[in-house]
Amino acid sequence: MSEAVQAREVRFAGVRFRYPGGVEAVRGVSLSIGPGERVAIVGQNGAGKTTLVRHLNGIFRPTEGVVHVGGETTDGKTIAQLAAQVGYVFQNPDEQLFARSVRADVEFGPRNLGLPAAEIPERADEALAAVGLLAEADAHPHHLSLSERKRVALAGVLAMRTPVVVLDEPTTGQDARGVEMIAGIVERLAAEGRTVIAITHDMDFCAEHFERVIVMVDGEVQADGDPREVFRQAGVLERAAVEPPQLLRLAGHLGWTAAPLTVDEFLDAYAGGS
Ligand SMILES: Nc1ncnc2c1ncn2[C@@H]1O[C@H](COP(=O)(O)OP(=O)(O)OP(=O)(O)O)[C@@H](O)[C@H]1O
Ligand SMILES: [Mg+2]
Repeated sequence: MSEAVQAREVRFAGVRFRYPGGVEAVRGVSLSIGPGERVAIVGQNGAGKTTLVRHLNGIFRPTEGVVHVGGETTDGKTIAQLAAQVGYVFQNPDEQLFARSVRADVEFGPRNLGLPAAEIPERADEALAAVGLLAEADAHPHHLSLSERKRVALAGVLAMRTPVVVLDEPTTGQDARGVEMIAGIVERLAAEGRTVIAITHDMDFCAEHFERVIVMVDGEVQADGDPREVFRQAGVLERAAVEPPQLLRLAGHLGWTAAPLTVDEFLDAYAGGS
């Protein structure tokens, strides 16, 4: 991936969203995420995380408020136009995958962007290699496991090389190797200058790989900032049904003042007598 990334800011301004059935799933969210940030969105089931991020690629349009991508509102943009800016990996891959082969699925996105045909197989190969599924390129997605289908869906978005990548619960159902692979992809995307927004219930993954955490409760943002600051806010975590990452809890039990987020930070604190 050598071409320069056109970094994009995303911004929610007073966004509310009500489902046709009546549930108001997003209740006044205002925040901006700068180019190249790694942001995790956490919160209990039904907090509105998925509903919120689906505004970024136009699947949902705000009932009230405005969503901006790259300084322009999503209002007048089609899903196809937004797809060139924001890649969204669905929480449930079966809502995303539809083709008869893994390769065809991964090639669909880049093809739809109107890229030169000669470039597409190479992009698909690279994306499939990144998720460890190059050998499955000719398989039917339905013959793969759920965790593999999730990684095919991720490959489909990687192949589009969008400036903003949104991952909806990427590590759910992945074994340790899968989690490590996804963590490596998050780090690489950020190093390339892409914005990575991930919804996750895995606080250890969140603490190790994201520089900012947004906590949602009942359709509202209740905390937003550095993981060390956010994971200190016991009341918010309680309301969001979120447990702090294991290393932070352990450091707390040991009575340390240090707040390690990664194993390396933990070992440094240990060696330094915390
Ligand atoms: N298609 C829909 N129609 C009506 N209500 C919906 C629909 N999808 C979600 N909701 C409701 O909107 C609220 C927010 O749901 P959403 O899926 O955004 O939450 P979430 O934070 O992503 O949860 P999870 O962690 O379980 O994925 C919930 O009350 C949910 O029941
Ligand atoms: Mg969700």
